[in-house]
Amino acid sequence: MRRLGIWLIGAGGYVGSVTALGLSAMRRGLVPSVALVSDHEEFRRAGLIAFDEIVFGGHEVRRDGVSLVENCTGFSAIVNPDLLRQCRADLQRWQRNIRGGTLQGDGFRPATGRSNARSAERRNPDASGAAAVERLTADLLAFRSAHKLSNVVVINVARTEPVRRSVTSLSSWDRLRKRLARRGPSPLPASSLYALAAIESGCAYVNFTPSVGIDVPALRRRADERGLPYMGRDGKTGETLVKSVLAPLFMMRRLHVLSWLGYNLLGNPDGLALSDPQVRRAKQQTKDQTLRRLLGGAGRTSGDLTTRVGIDYVPSLGDRKLAWNFIHFEGFLGARMSLEFRWHGVDSLLAAPLVLDLARFTELELRRGVAGPMHHLAFFFKAPMQTREFALHRQWDALVSHVNTG
Ligand SMILES: NC(=O)c1ccc[n+]([C@@H]2O[C@H](COP(=O)([O-])OP(=O)(O)OC[C@H]3O[C@@H](n4cnc5c(N)ncnc54)[C@H](O)[C@@H]3O)[C@@H](O)[C@H]2O)c1
Repeated sequence: MRRLGIWLIGAGGYVGSVTALGLSAMRRGLVPSVALVSDHEEFRRAGLIAFDEIVFGGHEVRRDGVSLVENCTGFSAIVNPDLLRQCRADLQRWQRNIRGGTLQGDGFRPATGRSNARSAERRNPDASGAAAVERLTADLLAFRSAHKLSNVVVINVARTEPVRRSVTSLSSWDRLRKRLARRGPSPLPASSLYALAAIESGCAYVNFTPSVGIDVPALRRRADERGLPYMGRDGKTGETLVKSVLAPLFMMRRLHVLSWLGYNLLGNPDGLALSDPQVRRAKQQTKDQTLRRLLGGAGRTSGDLTTRVGIDYVPSLGDRKLAWNFIHFEGFLGARMSLEFRWHGVDSLLAAPLVLDLARFTELELRRGVAGPMHHLAFFFKAPMQTREFALHRQWDALVSHVNTG
């Protein structure tokens, strides 16, 4: 019998907890599969793994101890409390699969006076990057063996890390291995240490965040050599999803976009993390890519298109997010016009089904023995790795075609 382990980095956060709740609800058949792409009729024949063949586990750094039940109770104004009650036993059982993560290479600095986030986290137990990878790898191997799993997919849903330029050029595995072995701060950010642990334990890796993760040449090569599939970055759940539909409309209709400004307001811990300017930059970079790639093409000069993404933390909003966009464009005979849209989303409930989809589609690749970047999963990401395709309709065609034909 096949059995999949889904291992979330940041398992005790909003997205992690709601993913566990969603998995339990699907296993028990308590809700219809609305919002789950992998349950679309287009994929019925693909033989994707069933929800009751999936086990949940992960890494967390919260010192106060994670309670998936408590985290999900925070959503009781949004999700039917009966559903929480019926899923309680699964959440309690899976919580026992959560292990202490690493803070090696994590450059997060909580905004002064607004958070005690850092003090609420475990002290870092790892003396070097290599020690962290060794410990995390052991956790993954133990999870696989304890639950008799045929495959494990590691998905990063941890807090976004600050931008670090230097790591994306690390290309020599031998040199990187030596640097990781040195005592002290890791040359790789925590997200990449987790990616390396996934590779070393033979797991597939998916990065749902804007952090670097596996997007380091030496790591990608190592995953290729070990025959493992991977993909990232940054789940496309709301504003950018709409952009990836609207931008092709302007492009195809040959309406000349002059400016596209977006403003996001959110009040969850992700929003708090984004109040660090370097963390915010990581998010802004992935968010801005879709427009640059889709509208910055032929016939444009670089100063021709103004794009901006603003992000503000508004605690009273909680997990509800508002994204407002203003698009200023030029039509026939130079006539200037505009379009505005507002997206009111519940962030974690938009993200969680996609995390489950990614696990199921990735498991299929593991069974098929396919290695390397999963280009066909570009549909799910704001900044899909190693692909130039950013238009949602083409990404969808690629997904359907790949899944059904292999
Ligand atoms: N719609 C969405 O919610 C959405 C969309 C795209 C991307 N994301 C990304 O998903 C991630 C999670 O979002 P969230 O709302 O759940 O945030 P969150 O802050 O609620 O959860 C993040 C969790 O990661 C944990 N963490 C931090 N550093 C860690 C480390 N080094 N190792 C292990 N765990 C660590 C934190 O303790 C926290 O529990 C963020 O990076 C966010 O940008 C979310």
